[in-house]
Amino acid sequence: MKKITVAIDGFSSTGKSTLAKQLAKQLEYVYVDTGAMYRAVTLYAMKNGYINAESFDKEKLVADLPSIQLTFQFNAELGFGEMFLNGENVEKEIRTIEVSSFVSKVAEVSQVRSKLVEQQQEMGKNKGIVMDGRDIGTVVFPDAELKVFMTASASTRAQRRFDELQQKGDDVTYEEVLKNVEERDYIDTHREDSPLVIADDAIEIDNSYLNKEEQFAAVMELVNDVV
Ligand code: C5P
Repeated sequence: MKKITVAIDGFSSTGKSTLAKQLAKQLEYVYVDTGAMYRAVTLYAMKNGYINAESFDKEKLVADLPSIQLTFQFNAELGFGEMFLNGENVEKEIRTIEVSSFVSKVAEVSQVRSKLVEQQQEMGKNKGIVMDGRDIGTVVFPDAELKVFMTASASTRAQRRFDELQQKGDDVTYEEVLKNVEERDYIDTHREDSPLVIADDAIEIDNSYLNKEEQFAAVMELVNDVV
């Protein structure tokens, strides 16, 4: 069976990564969560005091970019690659609401995007990859054989993310999560460089009323049409 590239884009908390992981497992492909890479750069900026609620020193972050090393290390127990920032496992730290509240500002910076896009293209150059993000089908792999664009209402997405954070023991309210989801949607769709848009040849899936199994079955059918 020929190996393809599967690009999964869409709004925050639409279940992109759950679907991408399921697909990668089934197809025995590599899974890459590009949001984790933007989150790790954001964590770096936070730890170095370059970004906080009042200010963002983009120049300092851009100057440091060549020394920021991002790697995924496969964890067999979890079944996916965990994010390492300069050799440190940051998989948990990058998922907090604090990182979520700054990540879209960091992702607006063109120099950040070009560094990460280059690394993503390198990871996918031999195909056999499922990558999720915001610009995979439009910028990273415009020639991907299968492009899926996922949507769901903001309240459905916020509820899912809120449940996830609560399970992890994060002290956060539903209103905070909804506000974060809406703010990220706005910045992601309005930024100048690589805004979140649906690629002309992407297939849109609104999963507000689909469970994980139904969604997976629908996308596997699309994969089987292509391979
Ligand atoms: O997918 P996730 O919600 O973890 O992504 C976090 C943020 O990273 C997004 O809200 C977006 O601002 C940014 N991002 C991006 N391009 C990607 C992946 C994520 O701009 N390919």
